Amino acid sequence: MKETARQARAEGRIIGLVPTMGALHEGHLSLIAQAKRECSPLIASIFVNPKQFGPKEDFAKYPRAFETDSEKLKHAGVDAVFAPEPVEIYPNDFSTYVNVEGLSERLEGRSRPGHFRGVATVVIKLLQIVQPHRAYFGRKDAQQARLIQKMAHDLNLDSEIVICPIVRESDGLALSSRNVYLNPDERRAATVLHRALQAAKGELDRGVREVMQLKDVLQRTLSKETLATVDYAEIVDADSFEPVVRVRKACYLVLAVFFGKTRLIDNLYVEPASPGSDDLVFHL
Ligand code: PAJ
Repeated sequence: MKETARQARAEGRIIGLVPTMGALHEGHLSLIAQAKRECSPLIASIFVNPKQFGPKEDFAKYPRAFETDSEKLKHAGVDAVFAPEPVEIYPNDFSTYVNVEGLSERLEGRSRPGHFRGVATVVIKLLQIVQPHRAYFGRKDAQQARLIQKMAHDLNLDSEIVICPIVRESDGLALSSRNVYLNPDERRAATVLHRALQAAKGELDRGVREVMQLKDVLQRTLSKETLATVDYAEIVDADSFEPVVRVRKACYLVLAVFFGKTRLIDNLYVEPASPGSDDLVFHL
């Protein structure tokens, strides 16, 4: 992989990288499509990263579909697939980790201790191996995308981190490899994530900016769905992921909710239409 990438760089080409854990869906393919428009060669990685799963999480049963994934990537025009074995990425004597302090401890980090350390470590390794000009991540995992951007900035990496919009099913559920775990009732209930964010967006549209009021709308919508158990529903600063009191600069409304054993996340990104403006632009 290093040799292929080195050669492309020597030829002055613009290398794109889309890191994934496979079980590819339209969300992944939207990142591939955007990267394909902007880069050549385009490289996709498939690696179910053991270090980002907690001991009680779903590493063993995480969906794996290498053959169909390869077909999808070929069809999407990917030039190379990097699919290393765990022992190649983490040999027995592996002992160096990256931790993005602060960001790693909040929200997803609090619910999933060690998760972001595993993410940051594998992503910096992928960026070191491929050294892409641009690497693409989905806003579906907003805190992850921000963490990777911060790591790239803090550690002076040369790769530009590009954040792409969320792809949803027609009923609003954000695509996720974990949606396959849902039974039909849970699948129906899971639309409450999008409904809650829509309800809060309605309040923001009416001019509501107080987080107490907005959180109340999120909570009330979520609590009507009996199959949903809320892990968190917060409104945070888009850079630091610290809680805010009023929505006045770029923010995320972030949700993590259990449906049975399956934990799903979703978010709404809001930012001022122009600097200092009270009008907001929504990315749902
Ligand atoms: P994975 O869950 O496979 O996701 C790969 C990329 O696809 C991530 O950047 C994720 O945000 C994006 N993605 C997933 N669902 C999406 C959707 N509905 N719309 C838009 N983008 C979506 O995230 C990971 O893998 C791993 O943590 C990884 C970054 C590969 C490191 O191991």
